[in-house]
Amino acid sequence: MKIAVIGTGYVGLVSGTCFSETGNEVTCVDVDAKKVEKLNAGEVTIYEPGLEKLFLRNQKDGRLKFTTNLAEAIEDALLIFLALPTPPDEDGSADLRYVLGVAKELGMLMKEGEYKVIVNKSTVPVGTAEKVNATIQEVAASKNLSLTFDVISNPEFLREGVAVDDFMKPDRVIIGTRSQKAIQVMSDLYAPYVRQGNPILFMDERSAELTKYAANSFLAVKISFMNEIAQVCERVGADVDMVRRGIGSDDRIGKRFLFPGIGYGGSCFPKDVQALHKSADDAGYNFRILDAVMEINDEQKQHLIPKVLKYFNNNIKGRRFALWGLSFKPNTDDIREAPALAIIDRLLEAGATVAAFDPEAMKNTRNQIGEKITFSPTQYETLHNADALIIATEWNEFRTPDFNKISSMLKHKAIFDGRNLFDLAQMESLGFHYESVGRKKISIPENKTSKPETV
Ligand SMILES: NC(=O)c1ccc[n+]([C@@H]2O[C@H](COP(=O)([O-])OP(=O)(O)OC[C@H]3O[C@@H](n4cnc5c(N)ncnc54)[C@H](O)[C@@H]3O)[C@@H](O)[C@H]2O)c1
Repeated sequence: MKIAVIGTGYVGLVSGTCFSETGNEVTCVDVDAKKVEKLNAGEVTIYEPGLEKLFLRNQKDGRLKFTTNLAEAIEDALLIFLALPTPPDEDGSADLRYVLGVAKELGMLMKEGEYKVIVNKSTVPVGTAEKVNATIQEVAASKNLSLTFDVISNPEFLREGVAVDDFMKPDRVIIGTRSQKAIQVMSDLYAPYVRQGNPILFMDERSAELTKYAANSFLAVKISFMNEIAQVCERVGADVDMVRRGIGSDDRIGKRFLFPGIGYGGSCFPKDVQALHKSADDAGYNFRILDAVMEINDEQKQHLIPKVLKYFNNNIKGRRFALWGLSFKPNTDDIREAPALAIIDRLLEAGATVAAFDPEAMKNTRNQIGEKITFSPTQYETLHNADALIIATEWNEFRTPDFNKISSMLKHKAIFDGRNLFDLAQMESLGFHYESVGRKKISIPENKTSKPETV
């Protein structure tokens, strides 16, 4: 099939590449000319495990192309995927400017007699498929054209960090349309991706649009629930790891997504929770659980700060902190709404300095915050002259570090771990002051964890 994908970010680039992998002819379009130039030169513009190999193979074979020219991309394309940003507007609702802007352009460019399926992959509020349809129809009517097309909803569920796997083997594919013609096209397109029997679920456009928000918001509820349980654990002397295992073995609850931490981030959960709350509000319903989720998550991002302050007698002015992890989760270079950024802000505000390391997200962080912090080439170099170590992202390479090195380099043997990476007994036997989330604090007397200040 000939496919156009509009937007080459995390969703567009992964979708376009994975559609080309099953033999489709894909042209991806972006307004960012620099990005398109890099992609055409064979440079993968995001970090996503497994993507580069597929990208290079399909690009070399001529099935995956990039352009800034929308007209060229949609020419002869049966399918047009919208993978455009839907950032939060000031009131929390999804900003549809990009989606409707492209709909207008499509209305100008589409030709009579060429059937097209316009597929929305962006996360959008209920009713957007109808709005995109109306926008295209309006432009066509102004030009006295009679266009034949369907606008359908196909929300994307890929997770950054495992996006290629998720796309190639999705748990389910959701297709929102009542057009039999579009159902046939989409069934053919997705057949290679659901060979193991995972379902393609067909439904109306509105239900498909809401499904995406419901899924992300439910997951945000699950994380926030565990973050609250962790808060209770710390206050009553229970261990959240034990509680997590205890409840996760119940099939009705499930083992996944029960890990407490320093809050969810990323481009999706924060904005999708807000947008669903706003949509419900607009429809006359106060979605109270989501109010709590947003509040809990904001607080959770600051969870480590009072612990750090308390350890340093409420004064961290002039202190230096090593920070491991900047991305909002491991295996991605995405720092949108990352808890690490909130931690950096608080440390700098209090007069401390920060030396950070992240395997993939340092370039994006530098682009966003400049040289406000030091970027270290390795995780251990962050420890030079650092008073304590803070961990914000659970990259695998942080899980079994050289504790002797950490201990000899840090001024205080103190670790504040927002991702519960280390074993409590091990931390105790190594003599670290160790604080994590929802677990016992390993408290070593200050004179045993600090070294004499060097002059
Ligand atoms: N990132 C995820 O994990 C994820 C997962 C599922 C769904 N989504 C949803 O998918 C959508 C896209 O998310 P993303 O993370 O890929 O966004 P992104 O910001 O990474 O990428 C969007 C791309 O669209 C381009 N663009 C903007 N206007 C354009 C236009 N007029 N024509 C062509 N290109 C244009 C931008 O330059 C950018 O490259 C959002 O609605 C998001 O909520 C994201």
